[in-house]
Amino acid sequence: MLKENYLPYTPDERKTNMSSKVTEIAPDIYRLSTFHPEFGIQFNQFLIKDDEPFLMHTGMKKMFDTTLEAASKVIDPAKLRWIGFSHFESDECGALNEWLRIAPQAQAVCSFVGAVVMVNDFADRPARALADKEVLSTGRRRLQFLATPHVPHGWDAGFFFEESDRTLLCSDLFFHPGDPGPVAPGSVLEPAREAIVQNLTGPLAHDMPYTPQTDASLRRLADLRPRTLGVMHGSSFQGDGAGAILGLADVIKEILGARKAA
Ligand SMILES: [Fe+2]
Ligand SMILES: [Fe+2]
Repeated sequence: MLKENYLPYTPDERKTNMSSKVTEIAPDIYRLSTFHPEFGIQFNQFLIKDDEPFLMHTGMKKMFDTTLEAASKVIDPAKLRWIGFSHFESDECGALNEWLRIAPQAQAVCSFVGAVVMVNDFADRPARALADKEVLSTGRRRLQFLATPHVPHGWDAGFFFEESDRTLLCSDLFFHPGDPGPVAPGSVLEPAREAIVQNLTGPLAHDMPYTPQTDASLRRLADLRPRTLGVMHGSSFQGDGAGAILGLADVIKEILGARKAA
């Protein structure tokens, strides 16, 4: 549950309150997880160790020190090459310029809309813009990009899918609060459903619009048949990723698709 005031901790309080846990959730794919006690949720990044290391989400600018410390346990952060994210928000790419400063070869990689409309002005160096279905090679691995406007939210939204181990980096899909373990012991669908229902009465109620493309976009993600779902806020999931995404598509249709104008 989000706290009521949404006020950030001071830098000193943050240092004593936050630290990151690093877990390898698939071969050479590391989850860097930081629980933010004020928001009551985790902010998770995913770091793929390869010839050209890839970081999914930068984390917020004000959490950069914590995220950097976690990434340093896996790679030399100065060698980071790619910084991917789903959509333009602080937790997705707020610390982008901080990363660009410490990693001279690093480049943001995101959707065409994200690069042209937002990132290329915001960032100190231009992003690489990916088209729908375009593949980014990081050496031994291929990351397929799917452009999914407004899923989970934002005109620029998209997803990265690591093809060898079939890991889908899910951004805000399957959001669930608290500080759960790195990999869910069971389903992530029920906690995600509960969070969607709870969110309906809060100040962030309209985070996900239900558009004519929402269901089809989720079904495209299910068609990838992921084995691991890297969840940005909450536990990751291992198992039948397609089943979990189709279940989520049904929940979203039932709850958000049926929502009437207030
Ligand atoms: Fe988001
Ligand atoms: Fe997020």
